[in-house]
Amino acid sequence: MSLVNFGSINLDFVYRVQALVRPGETVQSLSLERFAGGKGFNQSLALARAGAEVRHVGSVGEDGRWLVEMLATEGVDIRNVEVVETPTGHAIIQVSARGENSILVHAGANRELSGSQLERACVDLGDGDWVLLQNETNAPEFVLAEASKRGFRVILNPSPLDSSLLDLPLDRVDTFLVNEVEGEALAGEADPDRVLGAMRKRFPAADIVLTRGEQGAAFSGRDGTSAYAGAESVEVIDTTGAGDTFAGFYLAALLSGANPQSALVAGCRAAAHCVSRPGAAPSIPRVSDL
Ligand code: RIB
Repeated sequence: MSLVNFGSINLDFVYRVQALVRPGETVQSLSLERFAGGKGFNQSLALARAGAEVRHVGSVGEDGRWLVEMLATEGVDIRNVEVVETPTGHAIIQVSARGENSILVHAGANRELSGSQLERACVDLGDGDWVLLQNETNAPEFVLAEASKRGFRVILNPSPLDSSLLDLPLDRVDTFLVNEVEGEALAGEADPDRVLGAMRKRFPAADIVLTRGEQGAAFSGRDGTSAYAGAESVEVIDTTGAGDTFAGFYLAALLSGANPQSALVAGCRAAAHCVSRPGAAPSIPRVSDL
């Protein structure tokens, strides 16, 4: 089985700082590096490196051609990636000495997916196909409408979560992949068990996966089943891309027939590898690294 990922492609400018900048403060960065990134890009890369077949749908500017070539080299199907006039999206990422991050995203070309491009990407999708969405492109509204017509399964990583996403028909989502911040915003609860309980009530037809960083990840199935996997203990260098790595390895495991429990373990193991290295895309493991 394969998956189609409608996702962002970004240039990540990563600034190492002692501590994340606070409002009104000016600090000197310790270093600056440029990496490939974008939640969509990272998730496609993680899926491919985990052994899944993935087609990416997205847009870059001329300055992002190398990112598309990188996806292709990794085995991602790029037939629905287009080069447009608007510059490639970018992210300004601070990483603190403790490995925490703060991310400012500028959408750029990621919000320039055209109607015809989206139609072309959906035309051959139907019952049984899996589609992955995040919220850094202009695709979610179109894709959720197509899901009702064509019957494909939507996996939503609602990141970054904003009011435009909350206004969409989220009852069409088959699986939510949320972190604690997104879970709290969707559930109106902070405690992880309550987040899962409240989301279960609000989205009874969906599977829900809650990632909790050092606390691992939990699954609540629409069929009443639940599962949990702990995080591996590693030295944290940079948490950027850990959620994307988890998503790719979790979904790749499900696509290969694993149950949610084994898929959570695969996702957590890969995310632990990711946080112990700098950058988002460069720290996504291959199966052989694990
Ligand atoms: O999840 C990490 C990603 O978020 C970064 O690569 C950045 O580009 C933003 O999209």
